[in-house]
This record gives sequence, C-alpha cells and structure tokens, in this order.
Amino acid sequence: MSAIITVRDLAKTYDSGFQALKGVSLEIRRGEIFALLGPNGAGKTTLISIVCGLVNPSAGQVLVGEHDIVRHYRKARSLIGLVPQELTNNMFDTVLATVRLSRGLFGKAPDEALIERILRELSLWDKRNERIMALSGGMKRRVLIAKALVHEPQVLFLDEPTAGVDVELRRDMWAMVRRLRDNGVTIILTTHYIEEAEEMADRIGVINHGELLLVEDKATLMRKLGTRQLTIQLQQPITEIPAALACHALTLADEGHALVYTFDAKCEQTGVADLLRQLEREGLEFKDLHSSQSSLEDIFVGLLQGQEQPRLRVGEGA
Ligand SMILES: Nc1ncnc2c1ncn2[C@@H]1O[C@H](COP(=O)(O)OP(=O)(O)OP(=O)(O)O)[C@@H](O)[C@H]1O
Ligand SMILES: [Mg+2]
Repeated sequence: MSAIITVRDLAKTYDSGFQALKGVSLEIRRGEIFALLGPNGAGKTTLISIVCGLVNPSAGQVLVGEHDIVRHYRKARSLIGLVPQELTNNMFDTVLATVRLSRGLFGKAPDEALIERILRELSLWDKRNERIMALSGGMKRRVLIAKALVHEPQVLFLDEPTAGVDVELRRDMWAMVRRLRDNGVTIILTTHYIEEAEEMADRIGVINHGELLLVEDKATLMRKLGTRQLTIQLQQPITEIPAALACHALTLADEGHALVYTFDAKCEQTGVADLLRQLEREGLEFKDLHSSQSSLEDIFVGLLQGQEQPRLRVGEGA
C-alpha cells in the first residue's frame, strides 16, 4: 500500500529549549486507521501540528501526498483535515456559518448538500442555526469535526477526539471514523485510551518522550508481544503449588481454587499438554479450563517499563 504521509527524521525543539520530538520517522498508509498512543507530553500533538503546518519543524521532512509541507504548504494542507485537541471555535458564529467558512477558507466552491450531509451525520443539523456558545462541549467537538471534513480532505487527524466525551458520542465517533475510512479517508488519531486504539486501529504507533518506540499492525503486535494465560479451575482448593509443578510458570489464584499458567502463544511448544499430564499425575483434578490473550494494555505497560511511569487512563474507553 502506498504512503499518503511520509515523516522523515522529524525533530522539534521548542524555543524554551525543550526537545519534544527526537528524530521521528513514520509512513502512514493510504486508507488506514493509525492510532498514535502515548502518555501526556509524549509529543503527539507536536507531531500532528507539524504535519498540519501549525508548528515549524526543527529538522526533518514531511510529505503529504508527495507534497512537502514546508515548500508546498497549501497543496499539502488542502489534503488534510484536522480536529484539534483544544476547542477553537468562534463562539458567536452559528454552526452553519462556521462550517461554511471552513470550506471557503480552502477555496472550495459552496456545497450546501455536502454541508447538510456532514451536519446530519454528526447529529448537528437541528443545531445548525445555534451559536457555538449555546452548544454543549460534546457538540462543540462535533462542530470541529464538521469543520475538518467540509473541504473533503483525504487525511483526517483527530487529536484526542474522545477526551471528555460521553460513551454514546464516543461510539458514534468510532462508527463515523469507520465510515470515513470505508469512503477512502485515511485517519490518524491520538489517544490515551488503549482500548480505543485496540478497538479502532489497523496500525498502532507508541510514542514517549518524543521517540517512536514502535509501529506495528495491531494484530501482529498482539500476536508478537502477547502472552496467553490458561486458568485451570480445580475441583479442590490447594494451599501451595506442588513442588513437582515448580518448573511451570504457575501462580495460584481465586484463594487456591485456580492455577494460572502464563505462556508464550507463539511458541510451538506451549507446555500446556505437559502441564495437564503432570496435574493428573499429581492427582489434581480440574473442572474447567479457560484461556485468554493478553491485551494491548499489558503490551503497552510492558513496553514502557523501565521508562518513566506511564500516566495512562486505562479502561475508560468503553
Ligand atoms: N509551544 C510550546 N513551547 C514549549 N514546549 C512545548 C510547547 N508545546 C508543547 N511543548 C512541550 O512538548 C512536549 C510534548 O507536547 P505535546 O503537546 O506534543 O504532547 P502530547 O503527546 O500531545 O500530550 P497530551 O497527551 O497531553 O496531549 C511537552 O513536554 C510540552 O510541554
Ligand atoms: Mg496532545
């Protein structure tokens, strides 16, 4: 698949001397949903702001659809829609005026039918004549999305699209993102919510301290780094793991009613068969077996281990 965005050795040192990006290279594939995952201050917004031409890079290069974002800014920018992290609407304008203006700013001919379709899709049509200040926070965020889409961009950046958004709207947004992707739009979203990346993304990049730690297909990532756990529910509880089983990676759970065996799912020899045979020899009867794949959350926490403690809000992305 061809790249729609190419980022090469991108670095950013702010005037304060703070190095927010330390040589990031990345290719975004046409038509994918890419999630950029990282804790506060990792450099996500800085990266997006450079690609969208809002912040100047200190070094490196960014191409959007083969246009250099510095030398061919207007061409590159016209391909991009940006939903910023901060709310940036003019509070006194109406919804309709705001969205119309955004299209005009990109030099596109008026298209009222398109605007109606976008506003309806975002459940904003009924609010089209309201002033922005009369909308709720979630609605204001949806106006930002309408503004970002109205010039029909090929790439949509969503910087923390679901921060502070209720569960229903979050689900609506996910559905909308998928529809856009089905219509050929490439989506790059940033998030703290591991669950959101896990749910939405085709590929995931993990960034911390201005460095891209990893970029991987979600499925490969889960397979490559994921471990499996086998939970063995015992007929009779035990107080300790028999010495004969000490060679297996076992822990006791559920007040001695369960043994948990952790293994590498990608190994051909998982040791499960051995373990079950040995349980039988030890006279340990079991009534149930249950296996589970480790989540992206486990993978992510593992990745950042040894670095500064990640400040991620886990499990709020339902
Ligand atoms: N204009 C600026 N001047 C100086 N430092 C800045 C500026 N903007 C951002 N930074 C610093 O750069 C680092 C990266 O910030 P950035 O906004 O890119 O992080 P982020 O990954 O988007 O974080 P969050 O999840 O909180 O949105 C932070 O340490 C931040 O304080
Ligand atoms: Mg940010």
